[in-house]
Amino acid sequence: MKSTLDQFKLNGRCALVTGGYGNLGPYWTFSLLSAGAVVVILNLPGVSMSTLYTSLNKNLKRQLFFFEADVTNPTELQEIHKKILKKTGPVDILVNNAGIDIPPGSYTVDSVRMWRVNVEGVVNCIEEFSRDMKKNKKGSIINIGSLYMERSPFGGLYTHLSADKPWMYGSTKAAVGQVTRHFATRLAKYGIRVNTLSPGGVMGNQDKEFIRKYSERVPMNRLADRAKDLGGPLVFLASDASSYITGINLPVDGGYTAW
Ligand SMILES: NC(=O)c1ccc[n+]([C@@H]2O[C@H](COP(=O)([O-])OP(=O)(O)OC[C@H]3O[C@@H](n4cnc5c(N)ncnc54)[C@H](O)[C@@H]3O)[C@@H](O)[C@H]2O)c1
Repeated sequence: MKSTLDQFKLNGRCALVTGGYGNLGPYWTFSLLSAGAVVVILNLPGVSMSTLYTSLNKNLKRQLFFFEADVTNPTELQEIHKKILKKTGPVDILVNNAGIDIPPGSYTVDSVRMWRVNVEGVVNCIEEFSRDMKKNKKGSIINIGSLYMERSPFGGLYTHLSADKPWMYGSTKAAVGQVTRHFATRLAKYGIRVNTLSPGGVMGNQDKEFIRKYSERVPMNRLADRAKDLGGPLVFLASDASSYITGINLPVDGGYTAW
């Protein structure tokens, strides 16, 4: 019998993280790498990647591979999948992290594109990479949701930016919750688990007023720290430590959804 601590280890597993060049992707990646997994990043081309990758030690760098593709394009995913198989072998863990939100201050939304990336992109990747997992009769899929899949941004949070958060973002994330439940029930017979991990607000370059107003609503009175609050829950869902958990949403929001 494995010790509980050993159940968290990901040695010998290959994890694929979509949208790995962005704000949170490098931190998901670091947690998977440091738990022992080989990690494949899949991101849109033409986007510059985080400096976190260049600062990794030699051993972790050896476990990391980069590929570029658009998650909304199933044909591209098929092609990239062949290349990934040659480089790392089959994918055991899929982290559907690529997503579009609204750049602060912009608030122009291409609702169709948002749906295609945030929802269809998740489904495309599940369909493509669960092929490996089905063959191996094991796998863990983690879809990155959001606090806004089950809560509306409270009135006044964004008013100092003279705009409101668009309805479409939370709606796509609510759909991700349903995608999780759908595939959790369909893939369980292959030993594949599918769960959602939903961060609340994560500390980034938000303005002071936003941080103050948002934190007042959080029981833990702060935003998430991407370097220390997110990796543990991801590794838990990715690993055998959560071997009897499928179809759930795990909020990582400092208690926001407990109100
Ligand atoms: N940052 C937060 O506070 C927060 C909170 C809750 C949930 N989330 C969710 O976490 C995930 C990551 O958020 P983030 O802040 O890192 O976003 P981000 O915009 O910084 O990064 C997203 C990454 O996805 C890539 N991407 C976009 N469209 C793609 C496509 N079609 N194909 C492949 N790659 C594509 C982008 O190039 C980018 O590198 C998103 O799903 C987001 O909705 C973020």
